[in-house]
Amino acid sequence: MGLLFSIFTFIILLAIAFIGAYVEGLHYLFGIVLPYIAFAVFIIGIVVRIIKWAQSPVPFRITTTCGQQRSLDFIKQNKIDNPFTGLQTFIRMFFEIILFRSLFRNTKAGIKENKLTYGANKWLWLFSIVFHYSFLIIVLRHFRFFTEPVPSFVPFIQEIDGFFQIGLPIIYLTTIGITVGLLYLLARRIFDNQVRYISLASDYLPLFLILSIAITGILMRHFFKVDLTPVKQLTLSILSFQPILPADVNPIFYIHLFFVCTLLIYFPMSKLVHMPGIFLSPTRNLANNNRAKRHINPWNSDFKMHYHTYEEYEDEFREVMRDVGLPLEKEEKNVD
Ligand code: HEM
Repeated sequence: MGLLFSIFTFIILLAIAFIGAYVEGLHYLFGIVLPYIAFAVFIIGIVVRIIKWAQSPVPFRITTTCGQQRSLDFIKQNKIDNPFTGLQTFIRMFFEIILFRSLFRNTKAGIKENKLTYGANKWLWLFSIVFHYSFLIIVLRHFRFFTEPVPSFVPFIQEIDGFFQIGLPIIYLTTIGITVGLLYLLARRIFDNQVRYISLASDYLPLFLILSIAITGILMRHFFKVDLTPVKQLTLSILSFQPILPADVNPIFYIHLFFVCTLLIYFPMSKLVHMPGIFLSPTRNLANNNRAKRHINPWNSDFKMHYHTYEEYEDEFREVMRDVGLPLEKEEKNVD
């Protein structure tokens, strides 16, 4: 159902993209107005999300840990997987973000000889990392369309990315990486029964959107050989807030741009917001020092919290506790 709904949504988006690309009178709307709206929604949406996260109470340390916590001197602490200090937490977070360490531990459940077994499954980690890094490098490479003069890191990245010099124009490794990564992530959701069972439309749609951005990009570079001069004129004019619509922009570019804008608008309300979210995740960004340090919710005094103390609890349930033979603290002193 989720898959069908997202295919349906995607077909509608594709139809809108085609209309915007091939009806010339709509180029101003799709080439200039929409990018401004998309960028504004993206920035405001993310800021709102971050403010909401920052306002959520985190009264307890709820670190997810995967190793021995700091304890007695002769017990070895796992400093990365169970951080005790701010620095250890930073190191853990850093490697989580650049290497997806927790995903590397991903296991897959299956039935073997009538028993539930868990086996290692590194494919998800591998294709995820290929996809994410390819995406990042492609966005960095795209700076050649957004800047004049082009910063020196762009030709440097392009050179490494096109190192094997396959094809003309050169096929970048990250172009292959993003496509293969996305196809794996999509195939996993469609063909793996367990994953399909828990997948929603909001799991498929981002994959369709990003895949369509990649495919239209590939079409522009390798098949239609789009003239990049008007494209750059358009982007620079938008970024300098003096928008001009060049006459001879290839329609396929409008489709590429439409999907990018849709992605930007959808981003803050979609699961993709995990990108900034990981930094504010209390299960990751807190040190696990609960046993050494008492953490008191700083807002308690503001709310004039009333605690249900153990004494009150015992007063409330004394009869029942006595009936079932539970030990009572106040029994001897005050009662009977
Ligand atoms: C989410 C952001 C974006 C992604 C993931 C993306 C992805 C891609 C991919 C995979 C390609 C194929 C060739 C390559 O790898 O460079 C491409 C090409 C292209 N993209 Fe994007 N794109 C994005 C945003 C944009 C934006 C905002 C523009 C507007 C200026 C743009 C303009 C182009 C152009 C003109 C090409 C053809 C490049 C060439 O012929 O060398 N892209 N894009």
